[in-house]
Order: sequence, then C-alpha cells, then structure tokens
Amino acid sequence: MTASAFSRLHQHQTSKPDTCRILLNGIEHQVPVAMSVAAALLYLGQHVTRTHPVSRQPRAGLCHMGVCFECLVTINGQQNQRGCMRPVSSNMSIITTPQGLS
Ligand code: FES
Repeated sequence: MTASAFSRLHQHQTSKPDTCRILLNGIEHQVPVAMSVAAALLYLGQHVTRTHPVSRQPRAGLCHMGVCFECLVTINGQQNQRGCMRPVSSNMSIITTPQGLS
C-alpha cells in the first residue's frame, strides 16, 4: 500500500482544528472553519456539486481557485455561488443542485 502524497493540514497541527456547524442539503455537519465550501464538500464526501443543465451529467469542483465554475452551489439561499471562493461559516446552509432541484 502506498501512502498518499497529499495530507490534510490538520494532520500536521498539534491541536484539534476549530469546527463550525453547517447544513448540507438540510443535514447538519461539523467541518473545520478554515475550509472553503468546496473543500468542506469534499471533506464530507460530497463530490457532486451540480448537474450540467443540458446533459444532466454530474459536475464537481475542478480548479478550486474560482476559474472553472464547476463548484456552483446554493449558499444561504443565494444560487450559483462558487463554493471554492466562499469560506464556511457557522450555520451556513449549502444546497447542491442534485438535491436542490428535482
Ligand atoms: S472549483 Fe473551479 S471555480 Fe470553484
């Protein structure tokens, strides 16, 4: 078994990171406060952020720097927010499109 070349920042910290409560598709979670919304979704295992409006194929954040617009989610009722450009905050409501639309 090969160790991953990547590790989470908190694995190198001596103290446990502060967390905050968010609602992802109506379900409560605790995530580290130093994350973007897109990173928090990956942290929680939610890889799909939306579906393509024409093909309906699932999409997920790609660049994580505000360029690709693949990470669009609804944050606190505001649609089409780039999750990679918004830090998580306490009591933030995040809705991914697959669960947000029928
Ligand atoms: S992941 Fe590319 S804009 Fe957010």
